Amino acid sequence: MAEIPRDHSPESTLALLSDPYRFIGRRARRLRSDVFSTRLMARRTICMTGREAAALFYDTSLMKREGAMPLRIRKTLLGEGGVQGMDGAAHRARKAMLLAVATGDATDGLLRIAARQWRIHVRDWQAQGEIRFYAGMCSLLARTACEWVGIPADEFEASRRTRQIVALFDGAGAVGPRHWKARISRRETEHWLSSLVRRVRAGSLACDAAAPLAVVARHVDADGTTLDERTAAVELLNLIRPVTAVAVYAVFVAHALHAHPREMEKLRTADPAALDRFVQEVRRFYPFFPAVAARTCLAFSWQGLDFPADVRVMFDLYGTNHDPRIWRTPWRFAPSRFEMPFDVRFDLVPQGGGEHADGHRCPGEWITLALMKQTAQILADGISCTVPERAAPIAFDRLPALPRGGLVLRDVRARAGWLS
Ligand code: HEM
Repeated sequence: MAEIPRDHSPESTLALLSDPYRFIGRRARRLRSDVFSTRLMARRTICMTGREAAALFYDTSLMKREGAMPLRIRKTLLGEGGVQGMDGAAHRARKAMLLAVATGDATDGLLRIAARQWRIHVRDWQAQGEIRFYAGMCSLLARTACEWVGIPADEFEASRRTRQIVALFDGAGAVGPRHWKARISRRETEHWLSSLVRRVRAGSLACDAAAPLAVVARHVDADGTTLDERTAAVELLNLIRPVTAVAVYAVFVAHALHAHPREMEKLRTADPAALDRFVQEVRRFYPFFPAVAARTCLAFSWQGLDFPADVRVMFDLYGTNHDPRIWRTPWRFAPSRFEMPFDVRFDLVPQGGGEHADGHRCPGEWITLALMKQTAQILADGISCTVPERAAPIAFDRLPALPRGGLVLRDVRARAGWLS
């Protein structure tokens, strides 16, 4: 058996932070190996990229999640005690509840709320000369998410809560004040949602029984206990935060339509397959989550390489979405590539790979796709606006990445009949 190839830098955390999306892929190519070992945040970490590595990473008999995510991510983006750090039967029970609220009819209800928020926001944008699209979509989607989970309007101080929810994903991977704002926002939003859960349980806050707030409040875990208020708040944020974070993909949808005007024409034909291919390519092409982390459950060997027990493993989402062995000309934006079949489990992994119910794959993929399609249709057909001549390059050193300098829309106008 061979030892896993090593990246010989004594500590690679700074290199990861300065190029989070391409860190694993570039080193893997340099070392000519899909698997290599490095030091990140003072701990040995095995990094992996590609389809075969995906199948290994999502094998729950070899990898576990407990304690795998770095503390700075648990203190901001994820919180403590949530589904992301669970394994086995406990994970499956919690995940089943989240999947139940994020699929089926739930998606239709969410889309209806988002459609109403689009009309409210477009009316507002028309009165302004120009709008920053990312901030506009964060506002629209935070309001959508909070109404969808069942938070009454008078319990939601929109501007303050939106800032806090956005800070959770916008500042988690940052260094300095943005990161500290995310930590404070985590405490404040958990405190707020814990109190709502307490009142729903006590019967002093009315909430539709099918709304995620009520479902999470009454959920019984695999060990037969209900969630403590803090953990219930963490799981509610696991719904509210990522629905709001679809704002990042909304910006990429707009960026792609701007950079590829012929795609805009195709969307206007109202062909659902064309719309589907377009949003899949946006998810594949643009950077959002760079990587995910697990720990080995035991020592094992894979493709002749020795994996030790209890070592952190990081799987490269962005690099796998751009792996030339899976995707021809991966650096070209080409929705037509989705006319060809692909392995849904391990080829296209912007929201994780493997299975939804038994693994950690994102339960919000359907909601994400639906919100992205709604955005693409509205930008193609519902409103008109002007944008700068050239689409700005993407800032790859930012987490989450966004167009450098932001995306500004000017003279937003609803097309005839769209607002009614
Ligand atoms: C904004 C676009 C989104 C992106 C880029 C995204 C990405 C991801 C990624 C990379 C994972 C981790 C997969 C892994 O650990 O292997 C994940 C997990 C998760 N996502 Fe999403 N997601 C998005 C939207 C959503 C939405 C809309 C929801 C809920 C409505 C959601 C809820 C979750 C939850 C609860 C988990 C944890 C699942 C588990 O650990 O079993 N996400 N997501």
